[in-house]
Amino acid sequence: MLTTHKHIHATVTGWTPETWRSCTALHQPTYPCPTEHRQALQTLARRPALVCADKILQLKVLIAQAQDGERFILQGGDCAESFDQCSSKAVTQQIKVLQQMAQILMQRLHMPVVCLGRLAGQYAKPRSSGSETQGQKTLPVYRGDIVNGSAFTHEERRADPQRLLQAHAHCASTLGFVRALYETGVDDLLKPAHWATEWINALPEREDFHRTVQDVQHSSHFMASLAGSDADKFLHRETFFSHEALLLDYEHGLTRQVPGFDGWFNLSTHFPWIGKRTAELDGAHVEYCRGIRNPLGVKVGAEVTPEALLALINRLNPHNEPGRLTLIHRMGAEHLREKLPALLNAVHRSGAKVLWLCDPMHGNTETLACGTKTRRFEQIMTEIEEAFSVHREHGTRLGGLHLELTGDDVTECLGGARNLQPDDLSRRYLSKVDPRLNYEQSLELALRVAHLEHAPR
Ligand code: PEP
Ligand code: CO
Repeated sequence: MLTTHKHIHATVTGWTPETWRSCTALHQPTYPCPTEHRQALQTLARRPALVCADKILQLKVLIAQAQDGERFILQGGDCAESFDQCSSKAVTQQIKVLQQMAQILMQRLHMPVVCLGRLAGQYAKPRSSGSETQGQKTLPVYRGDIVNGSAFTHEERRADPQRLLQAHAHCASTLGFVRALYETGVDDLLKPAHWATEWINALPEREDFHRTVQDVQHSSHFMASLAGSDADKFLHRETFFSHEALLLDYEHGLTRQVPGFDGWFNLSTHFPWIGKRTAELDGAHVEYCRGIRNPLGVKVGAEVTPEALLALINRLNPHNEPGRLTLIHRMGAEHLREKLPALLNAVHRSGAKVLWLCDPMHGNTETLACGTKTRRFEQIMTEIEEAFSVHREHGTRLGGLHLELTGDDVTECLGGARNLQPDDLSRRYLSKVDPRLNYEQSLELALRVAHLEHAPR
């Protein structure tokens, strides 16, 4: 059992669930009909919560343990979920790939791995421009299914407040299905029939990797025969939920007080994070997040200075509460070694308790001549390897990874064991926003991390 703290001693000075409204909120849509928007928000505020306060605080304890080097965090899922991909099959595939990766990491890092899905709420996207032009036509940009549709028509691109309620309903059905999966236990997803591993034969490390997968299968079987579904509880082998807290109307609608608990919780997800483009100290996203009790993530790009990062830490976690703050650096393989050390040193010297995760995806996105957005598997691996080394050199600890991935057999990132080439990408490119690692590339990444010399053990 994890001991959580239902009560807090310090209130958050000058904060209410409304104070963000007087700050600048970037990346929010404009709704053409204010009355319809207001009515949708009133309905959303009456809808049931999606997660419970106790689980949110349990995750905070697990993150605090990860800060102490006792756990590793695997955060992953789609760049953007979409309503039409919300199906039993798609959700099962996401849980399967995350749990299989977690078992691989656990087997070799010798510590429990906590899975944090980018799931059940990852529906809002920040975009570099507010509009998109094709030929003679300019329309509002696609901002994620919670705001508008991706098809390039007037009707679809209109910001539709009903989508706030549709997003809530899709989140609820995703969460309900994941909970049903865990009721029967995830062991089934770890049985040999659910692993596809023939691609390993293409790699020089084939013997080591096959052995690791076999060890994982044997130990999962062993745990299941000893402990049955208690093994899931014992290992916290569940999936917690996370998404970027971008669309503040939605986050606000699920921000509630809970009988028996002090303070305010965002009950749309266990772990909201602030994206790189909305992490200004005085912006609305930071103001909203500072007052909720959830554990928080913040993306940290290569342009962030040590002073700005310390100010942000102080704003979001003034009492240095364990488990509260996770910093997700996303520098790009090229910039990491140059930019990360100053941040690690400053945070370390300040005594701030944070968990560091590496997002090796968002600093390594490129657009090919044909216009397709992609990422190279080798560059993703390079950023991860460099991140482990740089943390080690600076006496800090990289406590997990933040990945865009799918258990589906898509062709969106280049390379990997099957060495996907630019011409392969059009075969099965389904992401509406950023390219994801597919099932095989995700397992390969987990195996390579598990076998890294400098991985934490
Ligand atoms: C994302 O995680 O999809 C994203 C937009 O990342 P970042 O905020 O790091 O750019
Ligand atoms: Co993305």
